[in-house]
Parts: sequence; C-alpha cells; structure tokens
Amino acid sequence: MFALFSRKKKNKIIDLEFDESLGIPRHIAIIMDGNGRWAQKRKLPRIAGHKEGMNTVKKITKAASKLGVKVLTLYAFSTENWRRPDSEVNFLMKLPVDFFDSFVPDLVKENVQVNVMGYIEDLPKHTKNAVLRAIEQTKDNTGMILNFAFNYGSRAEILTATQKIAKQVVKGELDADAITEETLSDALMTGTFEKDLRDPEILIRSSGEERISNFLLWQIAYSELYFTDELWPDFNEYSLKQAIISYQKRARRFGGV
Ligand code: FPP
Repeated sequence: MFALFSRKKKNKIIDLEFDESLGIPRHIAIIMDGNGRWAQKRKLPRIAGHKEGMNTVKKITKAASKLGVKVLTLYAFSTENWRRPDSEVNFLMKLPVDFFDSFVPDLVKENVQVNVMGYIEDLPKHTKNAVLRAIEQTKDNTGMILNFAFNYGSRAEILTATQKIAKQVVKGELDADAITEETLSDALMTGTFEKDLRDPEILIRSSGEERISNFLLWQIAYSELYFTDELWPDFNEYSLKQAIISYQKRARRFGGV
C-alpha cells in the first residue's frame, strides 16, 4: 500500500517537473538490462523476465512516440548473446515473432516505422521473416523510427563499415585522404537515417550496470549517459520522463565552452 502510494507520488513529482518545451531528445538509445534479475526476484524462469521486458518495449515505444522522439533505438540482442543457454536464445529468437504479431497494428496506428540494425542474415528464418515483415508493414509510416538492434555489435558494425570503405578505395572510387567522419557515419548501420538523427542525444541503461557493452560506440561519442537502478521490466513512462528531465538539466557543449 505504502509502495503504491509513494510510487504515485513520485510519478506526480516527475509530471510536475517535466516540461516538453525544454527539449525532447530526437534520438534515444536504450540498453534494456535486468530482465533475468527481475524474474529471479520472483522465482520465475529468466524467460519470464524477457516476456515482461517485451511488454515494457510496447509501453516505452508508445510513450516515446507521444513525446515526439524521432528515433528510439533498443538493444534487443547482441552478437555476444548467442553465448546464453540454447533455451534462452531460442526464446529470444521467438520474441520478435510474438512482439510484431501482437503489436504491428498499434505501430501502424501510432505511425511508427520499424527498422532493424544488425546482422539479420544470421538469424533463424522465423525471426528474420518476422522482422522483415514488420519493416514492410510499417514502411509507409512517417512518425518515430523504432530501431531494434538485433544480432548487433558495435565493433562488428565499425569493421563492416571499414571494409566497405576500403573496397571503395581499392576500386579507385574513393581517395583514402578524402575519408572523413561523415564517410564512416554514412557507412554505419545508422547511415540510412537522416544525418541529424544518427547519433543518440541520450543513452539509457537500466538495471544499475554502468557499461556500454559494445553498443553504438561511434554514435555515442557526445551522448549523455543515463543509468538507472530500475530493472527493465519495471521501467515505465515515468522512468523515461525522469531520464529526459536529467538530459534537459545537462548542458551539452560538444567540447566547446
Ligand atoms: C538483458 O537482460 C536483456 C536482453 C539480453 C534481452 C532484451 C530483450 C527484451 C527486453 C525483450 C524485448 C525484445 C523484443 C524483440 C521486443 P538480462 O537477461 O541480461 O538481465 P540480467 O542482467 O538481469 O540477467
């Protein structure tokens, strides 16, 4: 009872403090961590945490879209996550199927466009098909881009981009001295977005861990970092607003004064 009251009170304070006119980050990236611990605390199997985490994705997608966020990038499966037990990997590979089957109508209603960054060619067929179908079903939407990092790793992304650029140089299509930061930004998986939307203004990580875990290493060069102890299944609209309030309070100077 007390917990419920204090949470409500906290949410009210966040609402009072929240002011959209102070600026909403155009691109928000999130490392959704803590599903396993959330389940463990309830003596449930880890996959129950992932299922609840999927529901949080739905809530946060709607909340971010309503706030006017342009790109929401979510770290859903890393190139390192294959090392988990087969049963957990299989469950995580099935999640996009359930997620998109149940959520695409809402995404269409919200005018949200799905994008996936990662090595999707290496995914099981059912996962890859679910992802490609969702991209196709939402391609005419013009609102927020819901960008899933799935089978994604930032070092691999940078390597792939470097190889792409090196091939252009070998072919004589590009002068090595003409390679700029923009050349690399174009060659990364976020290179399909408009230039001012490629790099997140804020990177959020839930669950109390304070690591980047091979996520968007190039793109977060100037991002504000926000860590919260909340476990991902507990993260909600107010947690997102709290992160935005923190972002609004920080002066972003890009190395200037
Ligand atoms: C990290 O928590 C979470 C993941 C590796 C999976 C993220 C997946 C979701 C949030 C489900 C939504 C996915 C889709 C495609 C809609 P963890 O398992 O490492 O947690 P722990 O650190 O507490 O063990």
